[in-house]
Amino acid sequence: MLAAKNTKLQHTAIFMHIFNNYSLQQLNSFGIPTFTSYYIPLNTLTEIEHICNILDLSKTHFYILGGGTNTLFTGDFPGYVIQVKLTGIEVVNETPHSVLVKAAAGINWHELVLFCVNKGYGGIENLSLIPGSVGAAPLQNIGAYGVELKDTIHTIEAIELSTGKTRIFSLSECEFGYRTSAFKTKFHNQYLITNIVLKLHKEARFVLTYGGILETLETMGVHKPSFKSISDAIMMIRKRKLPHPMHLGNAGSFFKNPLIPITQYQLLQKKYPGLISFTADNEHFIKISAAWLIEAAGFKGFRKGNVGVYESHALILVNYGGATGKEVLNLANLIKQKVANQFDITLTPEVNIMGEYI
Ligand code: EPU
Repeated sequence: MLAAKNTKLQHTAIFMHIFNNYSLQQLNSFGIPTFTSYYIPLNTLTEIEHICNILDLSKTHFYILGGGTNTLFTGDFPGYVIQVKLTGIEVVNETPHSVLVKAAAGINWHELVLFCVNKGYGGIENLSLIPGSVGAAPLQNIGAYGVELKDTIHTIEAIELSTGKTRIFSLSECEFGYRTSAFKTKFHNQYLITNIVLKLHKEARFVLTYGGILETLETMGVHKPSFKSISDAIMMIRKRKLPHPMHLGNAGSFFKNPLIPITQYQLLQKKYPGLISFTADNEHFIKISAAWLIEAAGFKGFRKGNVGVYESHALILVNYGGATGKEVLNLANLIKQKVANQFDITLTPEVNIMGEYI
């Protein structure tokens, strides 16, 4: 299971801080008590290159952990958990209308949003308060309130794990889609993201149409929005709807909003006139609100033992304290089965499930 490229692994423990049998409970937002055989925090590019040189990652069971806010561990992890802790945010290019901002993978995503809105750089204010790290954000193309990360990505810097060499990915090479990217699919476990470069604008251009932003700005007494006031409004909306992992373990939306064929949608809509849906990129399909499906299946506020479905948002599975990963997984399976039986729609997890799959 653990493969070293040579016998230098012994040395590595001295230089690299490899922790044995390490608890991940503080490193996953579900707060699941779980252990990994080895934990390696990587603080510099040199350390990343070094680990690529000494470990044969093609033969090693490993998981690259971001902020741990989108991962469910269903048992102990028998391998290496690698966490990138690179820091730094800098403006690398500036014109009167736009800027290129480079941010390191280990930065907290919301810290980057605050840096940008405070400087008057627009484009990611709608993505305020999304938990997680900068390095994890591109993997699932984080999105909220009508904006996705792909809308501002300029380039992504990553290290190829087999060679330790840096590669720059253009926007098109990242192959972004709804909660997915090439880093999650064809390049899975081949690259480690070190930096992202965003192209942000300075002019007053906003996305305000989605889910209560205008109403919230109005209650805040804002008549002329700014990147900062929109960020504040989004933070208010999210705090109202979503539980903070510090108070209630969770990983945000547990399932993706499923895509179904238009023909199936038309039949369902007749039966359930309240069905909530969104247009999809593909004209033959419609995106259905997973939260609506789960609520209609009777799960909103449902609790079983230490786990449950959040009372204010049906897409959030929560750990009320003391839950195991298996308990969360069992609840997810129950929801998946009931939704499939009732609506003939298969829910797929948005959260990365490490261990048993559903
Ligand atoms: N709804 C219900 N029942 C509920 C909750 C919501 O019927 O319990 C309905 C709402 O009334 C609304 C619709 O479902 O009409 C959509 O709800 P919401 O605006 O909260 O968005 P979502 O589709 O459930 C997505 C993202 C969230 C993101 C929000 C806001 C996914 C899987 N989730 O949720 O992202 O914050 O939009 O833009 O796409 C995340 O990825 O972890 C995440 C939280």
